[in-house]
Amino acid sequence: MKMRLLSVILLHGVCVLLLSAPTVSAVSLSVTPDHKQFFSPGALAILSCDDDDDEQKVDGWTVKRTRAGLTEMCGEAAGLVLKNSLCQLELINPSDGAYFCESSSGQRSDEVNITVTAGSLILDIPSSPVWTGSNVTLLCQTREGKQENSYFYKDGGIFNPNPKENLTLTNVQKSDEGLYWCSTVDHPNTSKSRLTVRGHGLAMNMREEDGYAQTVTALLSILCLIKSINKDFHDR
Ligand SMILES: *[C@@H]1O[C@H](CO)[C@@H](O)[C@H](O)[C@H]1NC(C)=O
Ligand SMILES: *[C@@H]1O[C@H](CO)[C@@H](O)[C@H](O)[C@H]1NC(C)=O
Ligand SMILES: *[C@@H]1O[C@H](CO)[C@@H](O)[C@H](O)[C@H]1NC(C)=O
Ligand SMILES: *[C@@H]1O[C@H](CO)[C@@H](O)[C@H](O)[C@H]1NC(C)=O
Repeated sequence: MKMRLLSVILLHGVCVLLLSAPTVSAVSLSVTPDHKQFFSPGALAILSCDDDDDEQKVDGWTVKRTRAGLTEMCGEAAGLVLKNSLCQLELINPSDGAYFCESSSGQRSDEVNITVTAGSLILDIPSSPVWTGSNVTLLCQTREGKQENSYFYKDGGIFNPNPKENLTLTNVQKSDEGLYWCSTVDHPNTSKSRLTVRGHGLAMNMREEDGYAQTVTALLSILCLIKSINKDFHDR
């Protein structure tokens, strides 16, 4: 009788575990406004740890920054403050660094290098990876918010010998990844920032596998419950 009770309890335990199995998806650091380069002094950027699938903030992950070999968490670092449970980056020098999200168990998101410059020009480049096949427009902006005719560079090479308003990359491919910067006739080179490209194919496969695993887990959970209820019933 004791053995039976034990096995019922065990079965219930397995069912509860299956039912509460967390769904796995990636977490990314999101930067609002969506830039990698900012002017100093400036207002604020909001940093948050978001789920890749629904772009909602995830609990239990902390924004961190590595700068000059030192890693600090939001709320305990100069210019990186927690306010109304939002992580705010004060756009003052020196705030350059590699920013990322970390879970309580030590999992890390990809890092985003943010540059805060006292200079006169920034490159406007998205902070998060862009999808292959999409179009991306890079702009060169002055402090006054003007887009001047600019020279764009990638990995040391120049894109356009004649200055132009923006650099539009159409049908982005993995080969478009790299370090970009720009200059104008009146303003020297901006800092360099990385454009990262995320492949659609891989991400979609991963999601499909996720979906498959979730379906199997759900079916197993239901079977498991039916079985344990049945067993419960017969044991009485
Ligand atoms: C961030 O900057 C560091 C130092 O310049 C560099 O080694 C690293 O590759 C950069 N990471 C990204 C994702 O751009
Ligand atoms: C990208 O730009 C090209 C040329 O302007 C256009 O034909 C295409 O539809 C655009 N693609 C996307 C995904 O917006
Ligand atoms: C700006 O970048 C270009 C391309 O690498 C380089 O040739 C040039 O010397 C740089 N200008 C300055 C002022 O650093
Ligand atoms: C980029 O430049 C082209 C032509 O120079 C212009 O038509 C287009 O509106 C610009 N795009 C953005 C986003 O500024």
